[in-house]
Amino acid sequence: MRPAHKPETINTVTEKFMGLFQQHIDHLVQVTTAALADTHYDGLWIYSGHPENNFLDDMAPPHSINPHFKWWVPVPNVTSSVIHFVPGHKPKVYLHQPADFWHKVVDNSQDKWTQYFDVEVIGHYNQLPDFAAYKNHAWIGSKELQPLSAQDTNPDAIINHLHFSRIQKTEYEVHCIAEANQSALKGHHAAQEAFYAGASEYEIHMAYLQACQHNEYQMPYGNIVALNENPAVLHYQYQSRERVATDQLKSFLIDAGASYKGYAADITRTYAYQPGRFAEMIKMMDEKQQMLCQKAVTGQDYVALHELAHLSISELLCEFEVINCSAQTAVESGLSQTFFPHGLGHYLGLQVHDVSGHVIDRQGTVKSPPKAYPFLRLTDHLRENAVITIEPGVYFIPMLLAEIAKHKDVNWQKVTELLPFGGIRIEDNVVVKSTVPLNLSR
Ligand code: GLY
Ligand code: MN
Ligand code: MN
Repeated sequence: MRPAHKPETINTVTEKFMGLFQQHIDHLVQVTTAALADTHYDGLWIYSGHPENNFLDDMAPPHSINPHFKWWVPVPNVTSSVIHFVPGHKPKVYLHQPADFWHKVVDNSQDKWTQYFDVEVIGHYNQLPDFAAYKNHAWIGSKELQPLSAQDTNPDAIINHLHFSRIQKTEYEVHCIAEANQSALKGHHAAQEAFYAGASEYEIHMAYLQACQHNEYQMPYGNIVALNENPAVLHYQYQSRERVATDQLKSFLIDAGASYKGYAADITRTYAYQPGRFAEMIKMMDEKQQMLCQKAVTGQDYVALHELAHLSISELLCEFEVINCSAQTAVESGLSQTFFPHGLGHYLGLQVHDVSGHVIDRQGTVKSPPKAYPFLRLTDHLRENAVITIEPGVYFIPMLLAEIAKHKDVNWQKVTELLPFGGIRIEDNVVVKSTVPLNLSR
């Protein structure tokens, strides 16, 4: 007999979420205890950071919290707060909640996450403990506050250990990145509609923010919103206010994410305004990108996957008669790098380009990218539950094309036709699994 359908109530959703959070905290306790044991420290302070004013100014840029702090505390906008971790003790948070009539002070001290911590609300810095009085502790935090000796401040041995642990995500972290993806996809849908309605880059950007209910400060990185030839600028940031006449509109690339409890999404889509060869090229790129996503399984060598991306993109260039040589020759001669000059992707998590991409063990042993691919951000084999991006692209970048001017294997007539379209990038966020990867962006 089929079990009666029981709709999920808000309570059961919250309970599930808190169950995941508890497992996450248990995991952090375990990995941090191991990191301290291996590095012979008795305890750890983690500082959230606080805003620092701009040069000769009384204004500060938006605060970017210490990722180690938000790994534990799921409130990405607290400042001047400290976590104290000693193995065997409940982690403690000194949570800064000042009496302040200039700003809204959000009271996080009663949130559900606090049940896993000993929370002490402090109204002023002078209520923070005397950090140096605790023997054999290390401190993780940026330059705003460094109360311990240089040797015990961000010690490489601890940072390497913890960064390596951050590669493989807990179920809670995957849930957060999935939620960030859901918000981002709402933005992408709105952006697509705005593009086909003839909106400017700036208007598309605003439609994106509105749909995912983020302000600029909550975005994990600056939106890349690029019409026509602008996708050829890889990190195009300009956001023109000018609308392009619809009879001139050709292409649209948007690379934009969202955040959820401090975790990032990082998604790119490309559209053609009219059906035709460029639209067909996008379709083929999408198929190749999906094939690459399917290979994000445990043990896959990411450098080899990047090389496969080069081969796939070269096949596309052959298919659309942009190059005259074989795909294999385009990869081996380096020609494909003119059209695909960045890496296939990176780790994703608390940071957009999450840590440890060039590291292969807890000791921080570096595996540099091969000489041929200096911009590759991930060089290790893939580990289960790592979250990565898969973001192949093909671009028509005047500066790079000028470097190979008159190259005999390039069909320059086709290049001239494609320059006004800028390029294509398609990017998904994928959880590495042993057999079938989990794509969070589809
Ligand atoms: N949005 C930056 C990147 O894709 O890496
Ligand atoms: Mn990316
Ligand atoms: Mn991106």
